Amino acid sequence: MRRATIIGTGSYLPDNIVTNEDLTKFVDTSDEWISSRTGIKERRISTGENTSDLAFGAAKRALLISGLDAKEIDLIICATISPDSFMPSVACMVQHSLGATKAAAFDLTAACSGLVYGMTVATAFIENRVYQNILVIGAETLSKTLDWEDRSTCVLFGDGAGAVILSSSEVKRGVVATTLTSDGSKQDYLCLPAFPISNPLCPVNDGIKMQPAITMKGQEVFKFAVRTINDLIKTVLKKADLVSEDIKYIIPHQANVRIIETAAKTCGIPYEKFYMNLDRYGNTSAATIGIALDEMVQKNMLQAGDRIILVGFGGGMTSGAVLVEWN
Ligand code: ACO
Repeated sequence: MRRATIIGTGSYLPDNIVTNEDLTKFVDTSDEWISSRTGIKERRISTGENTSDLAFGAAKRALLISGLDAKEIDLIICATISPDSFMPSVACMVQHSLGATKAAAFDLTAACSGLVYGMTVATAFIENRVYQNILVIGAETLSKTLDWEDRSTCVLFGDGAGAVILSSSEVKRGVVATTLTSDGSKQDYLCLPAFPISNPLCPVNDGIKMQPAITMKGQEVFKFAVRTINDLIKTVLKKADLVSEDIKYIIPHQANVRIIETAAKTCGIPYEKFYMNLDRYGNTSAATIGIALDEMVQKNMLQAGDRIILVGFGGGMTSGAVLVEWN
């Protein structure tokens, strides 16, 4: 059977570390509030690198690990909600920087579920024999999308990028099951506005802030996330004809430790199976899962035959999960 197998992972984070204590210089907050409510201790904040720079850093490492030449990449998908520009796409910028001259490239918007959405799209292309090697990146500079005077949001997020390379292989291992969901009726839970409609033919939009910033209904997001993680894990396990005991690790979107603790209880899965690095990087939206996966690979935590579930949830509201048997 033709499977999409992960042959390379990569991550890249800006050097600049911003601790909770550092944030108290900008907003009325405390390490105690942030740590106890979210589990975040510090995050990386760009001092100049844009999303395409972070994406390139993660992609370069994933390519090195894969052993492929850049010209062997057929498609680049970059999941992001903080691109350098609407046009050109970050994926096209990375294609050029990498020298992946034969690759098609596009960006994908699914907020914090972006990497899981990208991997699912890539898996479908591979299983249908459209492409051989696909680079999927999740990359964000969320620091440029924050209202740094809004303490309810600016303490939560960070900048970074993670990447995976999926390759077509006639093996049993690789991506075993995927599931994606969206619920546009909850679109106001997490928002990052773009340009308002403004042209000579329509009335001026008084009161619309031109500087877009993330807004969030935190408690609604919390409930959505806990319910969704539980539903998605059950769905991919059922699709793969497995039970939770067959899973070595779950790599959740790193939004909030309390969300994951509550979800673990709801799912009846030990919290220790959920890999977390939120304390060091905060919430990097589409990048969190790729960064965590690459960190696990670098720590040699994954052996052939291990089964893992990547589970994402985010603005839209979107959500998705990918069950992988490591090769
Ligand atoms: N520092 C100090 N005080 C703060 C801060 C802060 N950074 N932020 C808010 N507060 C204050 C509020 O002003 C409020 O004060 P008041 O009672 O005097 O009015 C108080 O803390 C409680 O505010 P709430 O917004 O009700 O805080 P809550 O207990 O709900 O916690 C939190 C907020 C942590 C965001 C919580 O709602 C949550 O965990 N939500 C999950 C959403 C999440 O984690 N989102 C991450 C991004 S979304 C994603 O990735 C999909």
